[in-house]
Parts: sequence; structure tokens; C-alpha cells
Amino acid sequence: MNKNSVYIETYGCQMNFADSELVMGILKNKGFEVTRNIDDANVILLNTCSVRDNAEQKIFHRLDHLKRIKRENPQAVIGILGCMAERLRKRLIEEKKIVDVVVGPDEYRRLPEYIDHAFGGEKGIGVKLSRTETYDDIIPYREDGISAWISVMRGCDKFCTFCVVPFTRGRERSRSLDSIVNEIKSLSERNFKEVTLLGQNVNSYNDEGRDFADLLGACANAAPDMRIRFTTSHPQDLSDKLLYTIAEHDNICNYIHLPVQSGSNRILELMNRTYTIEHYLNLIERARNIIPGVSFSTDIIAGFPTETEEDHRMTLEVMKEVKYDGAYMFKYSPREGTKAYSMKDDVPEEIKIRRLNEIIDLQQQISYEINQSLIGKEEVVLVEGVSKKSDEFLSGRTDTNKVAVFPKRDDIKVGDYVKIEITRATSATLFGASPVPVEVD
Ligand code: 5AD
Ligand code: SF4
Repeated sequence: MNKNSVYIETYGCQMNFADSELVMGILKNKGFEVTRNIDDANVILLNTCSVRDNAEQKIFHRLDHLKRIKRENPQAVIGILGCMAERLRKRLIEEKKIVDVVVGPDEYRRLPEYIDHAFGGEKGIGVKLSRTETYDDIIPYREDGISAWISVMRGCDKFCTFCVVPFTRGRERSRSLDSIVNEIKSLSERNFKEVTLLGQNVNSYNDEGRDFADLLGACANAAPDMRIRFTTSHPQDLSDKLLYTIAEHDNICNYIHLPVQSGSNRILELMNRTYTIEHYLNLIERARNIIPGVSFSTDIIAGFPTETEEDHRMTLEVMKEVKYDGAYMFKYSPREGTKAYSMKDDVPEEIKIRRLNEIIDLQQQISYEINQSLIGKEEVVLVEGVSKKSDEFLSGRTDTNKVAVFPKRDDIKVGDYVKIEITRATSATLFGASPVPVEVD
């Protein structure tokens, strides 16, 4: 076995996936090798998520499984990275004997050091948060592919009362615009065709006065044949300038992830979301006027403290009014340390589940209707690979992030843009015919 062979598993949001690439970049620079096979590794890292309790439970179960590895190879170093490292710190080492290193999101530069000490039998914890760390100079390790993530900022200053992220990822800070643009250019040279700019709240990006619209425009110009996506937008900070920037550039996708969380102003206030539903709906309307064909997805929480049937009904109403293309829907999960944690978690579990199911059912119906309305229309798809269900078909996504499947053709390959005619649709997938390659730039 190679002495320094690292295996990493990633849980949670896209930010964590981007961070895992960063971590692998840091470790490779120090001579570590990356392996996809856990049995070949002598360093096993879990990059973790704390956003809801079930995310943390998943990691605890995984750690129980990893006991086998530690038994077979007592020299193996097991590390916890990400939000759970930051939230649980010492507790992880004290309660989970197999954990050797605990390193939070702003201490990844020191990870090789912690691993070295762990090889010598010393456990280590690095969980200091930073006001300045952006890893601007680190080149993430990426395998060749079509899509890449770039984190453009770290942390969050919003302090939504339910959310643990400001505590686990620290204060908001932006990377430099120039380094991001350079990274996109090098991705383009490597034939990547899509990049997603990531941040907890990309709309508050600020590099010496250059805002997110400036960044997005610069990225779009730097790689005209690449699709540019971004997430997440906070409804309070999304500017008209940004909407016009999206409208002006063909290669910026007409798709905005705009978490609403709740349809009730009373609940939004308790959540410290800092906008009203009227503001939110007005923003959606402005976006639709400025960017024809724009589509939206959202995040929704069911069963926040004190949520009544009437509050819940207002959430369903907003969903019907906006008609989201997609939604990420969650049951409220109390997180220690947050402001909402001191509110009584007073919506009974079975009511949370019922409300969540109503939200999911409604979203499925809306997605189905939107997709049905696309039958007979043409869509441009970026080809990502062979369809999971049949190797006679290729699959990719449309500009508005919908999965589309269509028959294979010898002259169409991964990374091509093709125009297809939509012939059939479910709530999750569009089916197309007659693919024709198109030039994009
Ligand atoms: N309980 C349930 N959902 C949560 N989210 C964040 N914190 C919680 C919580 N404590 C959801 C929000 C956020 C998404 C990333 O996760 O909807 O937008
Ligand atoms: Fe959490 Fe709110 Fe920040 Fe999103 S904007 S990461 S929900 S505190």
C-alpha cells in the first residue's frame, strides 16, 4: 500500500463537493495520492454536513461502518472535515474513538500537518474560523469532465434563525474576481463546458467594489462556450443589475435558485429572512420581465416553530403562484446554537411530515405540468453522458437545468450541445427526439 493514499467521501451541499476538490488539491501538493478505493487508502476523510440532524446521523452510521477498516488497518487515519468538525469539535474525538483528526472548513491548509501527526499517533483538532481565508491560490484537484464547481465566496452573514452555517462556516468573504476568471479559463482549456459559481449567498459577493453581476459577466465573457450557473441567491440581495447581466449573456443559464423557505410573512420574520413575500413575488416578476423564459427553483422548510395550518397554506399558495421548476423541501430540524433552537419545536412530527408531503406532492404536480407544456418545443441540451436507464440514449440538461434524455447518434459526444424536440415528459425528465448538434459561442 502506498504510504500516503487518501480517500475522501463528501456529504451535503455543493460547497462541500468543491471543498473536497480543494482538500485533494492541498494534499496532492504535499505528495499524497488520491484513491477512489477505500481499501487502498491509509487516510480516510469524511467531508460532513450539519445542516439537519439526519445529515449528521448519516455520518455517525458511516463511522460505525469504518470501524472495520480501523480493525483491519489500525494505522489508517480517519478524519472528519466540514461543518460537523466545526460544530462538534472535541466531542468527535472523545466520543468516536476511531476519529484521529477533526478539521473545519477554514483550516484545510494545515490538514497535511494534522495527518502527519496522526501517523505518529497524535490526534488533532483544527477548527479556527477565519475572516480572510478564501484558498484563492489553491488549485482544486479535478478529474476531467464536463461540469465543475468554483466557490467564489465562503461563509455567510445572514444568520437565518434556523441555520447552522454562519456558525460552521464563519463570516462571509469573497475570492478575487481575477483568480476566479483565470480558473474558468483554465477549465475551458481543459474542455469543461459548464461551471457553477458557488456561495451561501452569492449576491453579496464583493471584490473591492466589483459585485456578483460584474463577476458573472466577466466569467461569461471569459468562456463563451461554457454554460455559467450560480447558486445560492438570497432574495434580499438579488439586484436588477444581476438580472440584466443574466439576460445579456446567452451562456449564463436562465435559472435562479431562490430559496423562499416559507410563504408566511410571520414565519419569514421569525426566520430572520429579512424580506416579505410581497418583495419576493415582486422580484420573481421583475426577473420574468427582464429574462424571458427564466425558471426558478427554491428551498422550503415545513414545520418551523409556531407554523400554523394557515402559514402552511400560504407556502402552498406561493408555490402555486411562482410555479417553481424544482424545489428542495425539508422538515424543520432544530440546530443547537441557532436562534430558533431556543424557540419551542412545537409542530408535532406527524404534522411536519404531513405538511412536507403536501409540499412535495404539489411540487411534483407543478413540475409535471411545466414539463408537459414543453412537449413539441425545442430545447438545447449539453450532453453529459449515457442515460442511466439505457445505453441507447444520451442524457444532459437544458439551460433551465432539466434532465433530458434522447436517442444516441454516432456523431454526438459528451460535451456537445444538441437541439432536441421534446416528445414526452414526466415530472423529473424530458424525453426528446431528432437530436441535432448546435454551435454555441
Ligand atoms: N432545518 C431544515 N432545513 C434547513 N435548512 C437549513 N437549515 C435547516 C434546518 N435547521 C435548509 C434551508 C436552506 C437549505 C440549504 O437547507 O431550506 O436553504
Ligand atoms: Fe443559512 Fe440563511 Fe446563510 Fe443560507 S442565507 S447559509 S439559510 S444563514
